[in-house]
Amino acid sequence: MSRIVYVNGTYLPDEQATISIFDRGFLFADGVYEVTSVLDGKLIDFDGHATRLQRSLSELDMNTPVTMETLLEINRELVARNDITDGLVYLQITRGAAADRDFAFPDPDTPPTIVLFTQNKPGLADSPAAKTGIKVISIEDQRWGRRDIKTVQLLYPSMGKMMAKAAGADDAWMVEDGAVTEGTSNNAYIVKGNTIITRQLSHDILHGITRAAVLRFAREAQMKVEERAFTVEEAKAADEAFVTSASSFVMPVVEMDDAPIGTGTPGPVAARLREIYLEESRKTAI
Ligand code: PDD
Repeated sequence: MSRIVYVNGTYLPDEQATISIFDRGFLFADGVYEVTSVLDGKLIDFDGHATRLQRSLSELDMNTPVTMETLLEINRELVARNDITDGLVYLQITRGAAADRDFAFPDPDTPPTIVLFTQNKPGLADSPAAKTGIKVISIEDQRWGRRDIKTVQLLYPSMGKMMAKAAGADDAWMVEDGAVTEGTSNNAYIVKGNTIITRQLSHDILHGITRAAVLRFAREAQMKVEERAFTVEEAKAADEAFVTSASSFVMPVVEMDDAPIGTGTPGPVAARLREIYLEESRKTAI
């Protein structure tokens, strides 16, 4: 059975879905996206993702093709039509297809392109990696300066993943002026003593929806949180490390640049936060 996807108002099998070769997402990476997880057939943190999407669009003066209510309906319809119990919904909106290739933005009346598709991931919340932890390498952050906008310019993060693979690791933490910004597709944290440390929000990092929820739950559980930049040296000397994202929830990091972090096994803080996050976000899933 082929996957049913959504393209500009129509639900259709993925092999029939098409986009113009003049689409600005294709020619200029002129588009934004969101990834929302699905557990037990329900969307996790939908409102957070919808709110960040509107912000990304507005920062780029891009039109919003659908209301957030319609967006929720489309998400639910796709989850149902593809019979997703656990998985992800990918959403992308671009500035649409201009008549020709031109660096200048097209007429603001140009209809945006909107595409959504699902990814089936049975057992997403029971990933074996959560039990073993993942290995990261540190690489220079060579992305543009507005990483708070969730654009589809993912070439450098993609290269970072390949650098990690080549080094026998799972992911890369990007570093700017000696301090960690974030992972290729997740926010980065260390734990020192009883304090959780993660970079403060700015244009330097994506304002993770999972990050916001995890920090809220950590504070509610009386854990100490410091939002500040941390160095690679601090990370290597930390007691624990972990990452958060819609696709990995809370994932322990046990090794950096071939050296163990803490005991080299998933730590109790990451394990506890993962448990709380999954439990609480399932309660509010829609
Ligand atoms: N990535 N930082 C970056 C650079 C990201 O790409 C992501 C998400 C995050 C975490 O954000 P959130 O908690 O809202 O998922 C942080 C998604 C999952 C992706 O590109 O697949």
